[in-house]
Amino acid sequence: MTAPVPAIREQCVIVVGSGLAGLAAASQLVANNVPVRMLETLAKPGGNSIKASSGINGAPTRFQPGPDNRFYDDTIQSAGAAISQEDPDRLLRESLISVLTKSSADAVYWLADEKKVDLSKVAQLGGHSRPRTHRGAGANPPGRSIIGALLSSLESNSRFHLHTNCKVTNIIREADEIKGVGYRCEDGKTDTLLGPVVVTTGGFAGDANGMLAKYRPDLAGFPSTNEPREGSQPLLTAVGARLLDMDRVQVHPTGFVDTSSPSSPVKFLAAEALRGEGGILLLPNGSRFVNETGTREYITNVIRNVASPTDTTSRQWDLDIVLDEGSAAAVGSSIDFYTWKDLLRKETVKDLGPEAISSLQTYSDAASGKTKDPFGRQHFGHWTLKDVTPDSVVYVGKVTPVVHFTMGGVAINERSEVLDKETNQPIRGLWAAGEVTGGIHGDNRLGGSSLLECVVFGRIAGEGAAEFYKENYESEG
Ligand SMILES: Cc1cc2nc3c(=O)[nH]c(=O)nc-3n(C[C@H](O)[C@H](O)[C@H](O)COP(=O)(O)OP(=O)(O)OC[C@H]3O[C@@H](n4cnc5c(N)ncnc54)[C@H](O)[C@@H]3O)c2cc1C
Ligand SMILES: *[C@@H]1O[C@H](CO)[C@@H](O)[C@H](O)[C@H]1NC(C)=O
Ligand SMILES: *[C@@H]1O[C@H](CO)[C@@H](O)[C@H](O)[C@H]1NC(C)=O
Repeated sequence: MTAPVPAIREQCVIVVGSGLAGLAAASQLVANNVPVRMLETLAKPGGNSIKASSGINGAPTRFQPGPDNRFYDDTIQSAGAAISQEDPDRLLRESLISVLTKSSADAVYWLADEKKVDLSKVAQLGGHSRPRTHRGAGANPPGRSIIGALLSSLESNSRFHLHTNCKVTNIIREADEIKGVGYRCEDGKTDTLLGPVVVTTGGFAGDANGMLAKYRPDLAGFPSTNEPREGSQPLLTAVGARLLDMDRVQVHPTGFVDTSSPSSPVKFLAAEALRGEGGILLLPNGSRFVNETGTREYITNVIRNVASPTDTTSRQWDLDIVLDEGSAAAVGSSIDFYTWKDLLRKETVKDLGPEAISSLQTYSDAASGKTKDPFGRQHFGHWTLKDVTPDSVVYVGKVTPVVHFTMGGVAINERSEVLDKETNQPIRGLWAAGEVTGGIHGDNRLGGSSLLECVVFGRIAGEGAAEFYKENYESEG
């Protein structure tokens, strides 16, 4: 797979980045018998996509427990004020969301039926009015099984060539058309490839001191669930691409602090389900302080206002996430993973200090319906602990807010064509899909919709680039 890129100028479609959006585009290209060269900076393919743990949205599908015609409306609602009457991009945003949601069942069926990925389990995540986030029944997280299936199908196709350890350094624009890319490989070799270009280079949530600091100075240096890497939108703005929503960044209130490397910039996500199934958050002194089922943004803001940061730069906080045995059982097998990684520890309440006993008792009373929750929480998941004693068993981990997803990126139309900053028209020969693009999610991405956008717009980009290649390249011989 790491074979050097041949120097001969054979023509192909170039896909930049090997995450889900890139693999979806490449799959569509080879399905059209078009040769593909995929360039990937890192040694291993898969990007942040391979880490996806909750699943992919689709509606209505045969895997869902009931009917569902609310996906478009839920997505518009989550996009929030970004889609206002006055917004000059309102129609563009609505058409992107319409394509995303209307193609979602097809996207799930493409993976499940054509690529044989198990997506038979469906969960309801925050912000969704129906269960519609699909994953497999086994222990393999959905990102890993989807990436694995697409890669192995591509690798068996002679028209697909993956070149890892090769970073695209520039896109070549001549007059009004994109003609190819320049790249540099780890062995120092630099060269160009000629052909139409599909850019699927992902977001900039892991570029803590670069693009994140530029567009969201308040989040500069924040830890992230993403791998630390440079943002890639400058590749596209250098050839005239327009940007949209760059300051819209999703912060997740709970990333695990690994006590063996507390200052690591990469954190494991402490999934929303840990709180949804009953888990609570405590300050170091054992006090509860927030409605743990509020929105991600709300919880993060309360943390930043109420809790004390652990460092002078206010990039990390010291909080405990606490689950009782009922909540932990409801979360299921990922609890074993977290305890195996030592991110969650099985302890007793007395290890949390005297104040925690009373915090937990107050919460248990609310959960069992005896009293109202002091923080207005209405759902307590599967919290079953009733009488809290110093010896009650709990699962405890350290958590802090983490940057998780960047909603902004280059503007595309519903054909995944990149729009020019000056004309707002498509740039000929250039497509983009996945987290590198902006505008689809507005203020807030729904969980499960980023894998979906990778599949939907990645395939659209692949289809468009295949047509363009056949019309403009293949005939040249
Ligand atoms: C821990 C975690 C859990 C998640 N869980 C979910 C979930 O359950 N459901 C969901 O929908 N979303 C989830 N997300 C979000 C989702 O995984 C990502 O938004 C999505 O996978 C992005 O895919 P992509 O193909 O756009 O980019 P990526 O998968 O990040 O791939 C981009 C690739 O491009 C490469 N690249 C970048 N620049 C260059 C260059 N110049 N030259 C060559 N290569 C380059 C990168 O190295 C990378 O491999 C999760 C994210 C994380 C971090
Ligand atoms: C715990 O700390 C918070 C924030 O510093 C404070 O508001 C609260 O009063 C403290 N609780 C106790 C019991 O000391
Ligand atoms: C707590 O969160 C739930 C779920 O988001 C919400 O319905 C409820 O209104 C919230 N309560 C308060 C007081 O914020």
